[in-house]
Amino acid sequence: ILMTGGVTLLLFLSVLFLQNFTFGHHHAAAIETVDPKKTDETAPFNKPGLKKVSEKEWDYELVIVASVFQYSPSEVEIPVGAKVKIIATSKDVIHGLEVVETNINLMLEPGLVTEKIATFRKKGEYLVLCNEYCGNGHHYMSGILKVV
Ligand code: CUA
Repeated sequence: ILMTGGVTLLLFLSVLFLQNFTFGHHHAAAIETVDPKKTDETAPFNKPGLKKVSEKEWDYELVIVASVFQYSPSEVEIPVGAKVKIIATSKDVIHGLEVVETNINLMLEPGLVTEKIATFRKKGEYLVLCNEYCGNGHHYMSGILKVV
C-alpha cells in the first residue's frame, strides 16, 4: 500500500512538474495543502479578500478562492503601490488566475495553495480571467482588481 501511495505521489508530482514546465505556470511548491472540501472552513480561505498585514516582504495579503465559475471575492480594491501577496486555491476543479496586462498568471488547483507577490504600481481596473478550461461557464469566469 505504501509503495502504491509513493508511486501515485511521484506520478502526481511529475504531472505537476510537466504542467509547470509546459505551460509556464507559476506554482508555490506543493508544500501547503488544504482539503478542497473544507476550503471554506480553512484559514486563510475562510476569509477571502484583501487585508493589511505586517510582514517585511509584503504589505497586503489577497486571499482568493476559485470555484465554478467565479472568484471569491470577484472584485477587489487595492491601494496603488501596494505590495500584495496573492494566496489562492480552488474548491473544485483546476482554474486559472490571469491578471490581464500584468505578469500574474497562476494555476489554481484544488487542494493546493498557490502564492505570488505582486506590486500594483499603476492605477486602473485589471481584468482577472480564468485561463484553464473548467467547464461550460469557463468563458464567463472573471473578476476585477481595481487599483486605486
Ligand atoms: Cu475557471 Cu475556466
